[in-house]
Amino acid sequence: MNIQYTEKLKFVKNFLRQNDAKLIAHYYVDEELQKLAEDTGGCVADSLQMAKFGSQQKESKLIIAGVRFMGETAKILNPEKNIYVIDKDATCSLDESCQLEPFQKFCNSFPDREIVVYANTSAKIKAISDWVVTSSIAIPLVENLASQNKKIIWAPDKYLGAYIQDQTGIDMKIWNGACIVHEEYKTIELKKLITHLGDCDVLVHPESPRSIIQLADVVGSTTKLINASQKSKSKNIIVATEKNIFYQMKKLSPEKNFFEAPTEGEGATCKSCGRCPWMDLNTYKKLINIFTGNNELLLDELVIRNAKKSINRMIEFEDKFYQESTRVS
Ligand code: 13P
Repeated sequence: MNIQYTEKLKFVKNFLRQNDAKLIAHYYVDEELQKLAEDTGGCVADSLQMAKFGSQQKESKLIIAGVRFMGETAKILNPEKNIYVIDKDATCSLDESCQLEPFQKFCNSFPDREIVVYANTSAKIKAISDWVVTSSIAIPLVENLASQNKKIIWAPDKYLGAYIQDQTGIDMKIWNGACIVHEEYKTIELKKLITHLGDCDVLVHPESPRSIIQLADVVGSTTKLINASQKSKSKNIIVATEKNIFYQMKKLSPEKNFFEAPTEGEGATCKSCGRCPWMDLNTYKKLINIFTGNNELLLDELVIRNAKKSINRMIEFEDKFYQESTRVS
């Protein structure tokens, strides 16, 4: 094993123990941070599981390797703990696209609708919403609301919103936001790659445009895509989501070939090129200096109280939904 990594691991283990802290990472941060989270008894997960894991830990401090909304969710669910993010500038284009004042105006123009927001939003947006969802639970939750004749506002991701509508036929008023990573996948180039490889499976995160989703063999949350990569019978796997997820996929299937869905087309250049610039702000160096900077996330008490209601509703729904689906299957 890489000697440098072994030394870093030893250091981080002590560092976390001495500071009574746990490291929780998203699949989109770099491989080294994912490994450190795994090897120190923390976790690497999708955004929903990160939130649930944090609530089950005895440590007084949680360090979130991811983006700001993930840290805020940890704070909302664990207000008694100290929550630290590796870089406070690590935001998310979806979160940024949905600012409180214009969103409130949008919601006021549809007063008869339930407000359902994606986890990739600020704590303030969650606090004025009825439901929070992640990609892993969005479809069953929206279906459940529609079965009670509830009308829906969806924010902020227009592509995930369109995907939910395509899958369920449920009418929703959709906010106009997008993820800068997923929005850049190129349909013609993806078709060419599929033809070139022949035997392959295409795994797509639902934050991608419809024309990319239409080429997918599996569409789902980061966890669903990782599981699908392992189950796939194809030797070649094309992945349309942030590149750092490859670490988990390659670990589970070292014999398979993984390809990034193309982000550069003929005559077009990519900006994010399959990398989230904010996830990239998470580094080892910043991690080991986290308690010397201004990295603790603090939120207004009322915002925490209100946002907690809509997040807890999702968690309760998710627990019930999976209990019921296992009972049926
Ligand atoms: P998941 O909930 O699937 O982990 O996605 C989080 C995210 O930020 C995708 O861009």
